[in-house]
Amino acid sequence: MSISSRAVLLSLGAAGLLVVASAQAADAPVSAAQAANMAVNCFSCHGPEGRSPGSIPSLQQLTAVNIVALMKDFRSGKRPSTVMGRHAKGYTDAEVEALAGYIAGLKK
Ligand code: HEC
Repeated sequence: MSISSRAVLLSLGAAGLLVVASAQAADAPVSAAQAANMAVNCFSCHGPEGRSPGSIPSLQQLTAVNIVALMKDFRSGKRPSTVMGRHAKGYTDAEVEALAGYIAGLKK
């Protein structure tokens, strides 16, 4: 096999992997451990377990349904925000739901 045909096959393979990876990312199920990991990012602003010590709102009293609705409204821009619109755009629906379930399930 010539070097150039090998290169073509390699790049086709890489493109195929990318397609598979992005298709999985869009609707891949999210484990509880992954949700806990992602929530660390939220808690850097919203305080440990979502109990904010400052002016950023606490997440503690929100239900999972509230959190999902707020995140989707931030993402669409329906709810104005300084930073949350940008954060919300970084998560798939499955990730938002897993995060909301995890955060709402923490001890109040
Ligand atoms: C950089 C700091 C920062 C990070 C990180 C962050 N938030 Fe926020 N969050 C804010 C601020 C500030 C607001 C107030 C709205 C605004 O101005 O964006 C807010 C508002 C919210 C609200 C609405 C609360 C209410 O009662 O109105 C929810 C829900 C929320 N964030 C969830 C999350 C989740 C879930 C994550 C992690 C994926 C997260 N936030 C990460 C700063 C942050």
